[in-house]
Amino acid sequence: MIGVFDSGSGGLTVMRALEHALPTESFIYLGDHGNAPYGNRSPADIYDLTLRGIERLFGLGCSLVIIACNTAAATGLRQLQQTWLPHAYPQHRVIGIIVPMIEAITGMPWEAQATTATLTDVTPAGPALHVAVCATRHTVNSGAYVTEIAKRAPTIRVTQQACPELARMIDDGATDDEIRPYVGTYIGELLVPPRDVPDVCILACTHYPLIEHLFREVLPSRVRLLTQGDVTAASLQRYLARHPRFVSAEAAATVYLTTGDPVHVSAVAGRFYGRVVQFQGLS
Ligand code: DGL
Repeated sequence: MIGVFDSGSGGLTVMRALEHALPTESFIYLGDHGNAPYGNRSPADIYDLTLRGIERLFGLGCSLVIIACNTAAATGLRQLQQTWLPHAYPQHRVIGIIVPMIEAITGMPWEAQATTATLTDVTPAGPALHVAVCATRHTVNSGAYVTEIAKRAPTIRVTQQACPELARMIDDGATDDEIRPYVGTYIGELLVPPRDVPDVCILACTHYPLIEHLFREVLPSRVRLLTQGDVTAASLQRYLARHPRFVSAEAAATVYLTTGDPVHVSAVAGRFYGRVVQFQGLS
């Protein structure tokens, strides 16, 4: 079984793509709704909650966990991969959703040799690619995208834009008309002169696919918008091909667990998934 962890419901936008791309896999989705949103918490808090969620998924039989939350992955994934996992669970693996996005923008798998040769796949402008990252303030402050992109493709120019109100508004069920001015303000800040128009804009929060159309409205049409579901699914397919021991032995199914109130979560989470999802409570 493969575990998918998120602070709440945003990870369902990734979960949906994983199920679609890997229909024979068995998944457990764990949303930490009882402690969401993570964006307003301290890094130490986010790290501890993420670790606890991963341990719960390991305890339920998952040996591979995907952190389907940028805020959690940006805060602690590298640290837990390097310091905690090797001695606590040496046979288990935890992966995130930042590397798959970097694979998508560089056009090369993470395990390949770093090169700028394939960047023309993304834009005729070639290696001087300009990538904008729209994310929670916490993800922006972590600098995780800047750091990870620099490791693989140092010629890519990265501009970050914090969009601090969006995840909360989406969770609260705000309408397009209520959210539109906020998106307009954030993209206005992103494009303020002398900043130039990016080639690619990454929606680096798993909540944002719900309002992708609002970003599209204000971004110039030549900007390529990327969301995380499909790129994470494609990356996981390659990962399982390289590491077949993580391919599920169980029959295909997904179980949805929450640390919050399962009745309330089941009532609202369908917006992130495209259909009703029944959550079970995890005490
Ligand atoms: N969906 C989360 C992300 O991808 C943000 C939500 C939160 O703050 O918990 O960053």
